[in-house]
Amino acid sequence: MAIERTLSIIKPDAVKKGVIGAIIARFESEGLRIAAVRKVHLSLREAQGFYAVHSARGFFGELTEFMSSGPCVAIVLEGENAIAKNREIMGATNPANAAEGTLRKLYADSVGENAVHGSDAPETAAVEIAYFFRGTELH
Ligand code: CMP
Repeated sequence: MAIERTLSIIKPDAVKKGVIGAIIARFESEGLRIAAVRKVHLSLREAQGFYAVHSARGFFGELTEFMSSGPCVAIVLEGENAIAKNREIMGATNPANAAEGTLRKLYADSVGENAVHGSDAPETAAVEIAYFFRGTELH
């Protein structure tokens, strides 16, 4: 299996709940390494840029206002099959459909405020990582 990197974001709802440490501990306990981590409060414009692929969706305004409503934690996870592994750890986008024990089942309240984001493919992971980190910040 290939060693991959993926972007995780601990969203403002999970930061407010005080579960940054629990989420990072979960990633590490599942064999994902933290290659970079930074707490950041996105502006509305920055959130709109990050989620530009969703700009035509009805929930775009709600999503970008929420993502800029408070600080997030951006994390680069590294490991074997990291993109799929992170998606498995997160669970379904809508916490109502998320499997027991997944981060969204544990910490999310709604499809809009769903605790964590994770890249969905190698191409998007590369773009999303570069949105938050310079190459020299990954170790
Ligand atoms: P995320 O993995 O960050 O990628 C896009 C986000 O859009 C997704 O998680 C959800 O939080 C959000 N989203 C998807 N569908 C809806 C919806 N129907 N209403 C509000 N937000 C949504």
